[in-house]
Amino acid sequence: MTDQVKIIGIVGSVSKDSSTRKAMKIVLDEAAKRGALTELVDLREYDLPIAVRYSNDEMPKHHRKALEKFKSKFDGAVGIILGSPEYHGSMTGVLKNAIDNLGFDQFQGKIVGLLGTAGGEMGATNTLNHLRLVGRNLHSWVLPKQVSIGKARSKFDDNGTCLDERIEKRLRELGSEVARFSYLHHSKEISKFVDMWLGSQENPGGD
Ligand SMILES: Cc1cc2nc3c(=O)[nH]c(=O)nc-3n(C[C@H](O)[C@H](O)[C@H](O)COP(=O)(O)O)c2cc1C
Repeated sequence: MTDQVKIIGIVGSVSKDSSTRKAMKIVLDEAAKRGALTELVDLREYDLPIAVRYSNDEMPKHHRKALEKFKSKFDGAVGIILGSPEYHGSMTGVLKNAIDNLGFDQFQGKIVGLLGTAGGEMGATNTLNHLRLVGRNLHSWVLPKQVSIGKARSKFDDNGTCLDERIEKRLRELGSEVARFSYLHHSKEISKFVDMWLGSQENPGGD
């Protein structure tokens, strides 16, 4: 890859030994191997407000500072990977609240990859569907390939090593896809080609 793209991963679990965080680290590791500049944004480090339409004056200072720092992580990011455990059939409140503190400025036009974990065997399909819908509402390009991990806590050891080869392969594919599409989306050469294509003559043979 020629241009380096920035990709961030947000994990919707604040648990100390989160399986979602372990999975996200593998996804980001693969994206980095593909040439991306990656960062895991850990929601435990941000004392975010409960999302509400505050005017700046009303928002307590510590929340305002935390939110500014959190938003700054999205500056220049071309790709965003959202990871969440399934909580009662959906994403966690922690992740939804973090996203609700953001908007088009952080998501519009960005490449989004999805990762879901669940305690049950059925996996995190509903969480992934809900995240997809949220991504669409924020006008981002949500990639079709996604990863769902059932019985997630049994799939990683204490050091974060994935104990299931097939899951690790899927996680790495996700990292690779987000890196690939972020690069394509960011590439000046490809933008030039698309502009040329859009500005080209209409098909003279067409109606
Ligand atoms: C409040 C709560 C609700 C949950 N709801 C579901 C659920 O609906 N389906 C499911 O399969 N697992 C459910 N789980 C289990 C988590 O999805 C599972 O433990 C997940 O791997 C935790 O992710 P983490 O290790 O990153 O914190 C729930 C856990 C909690 C704490």
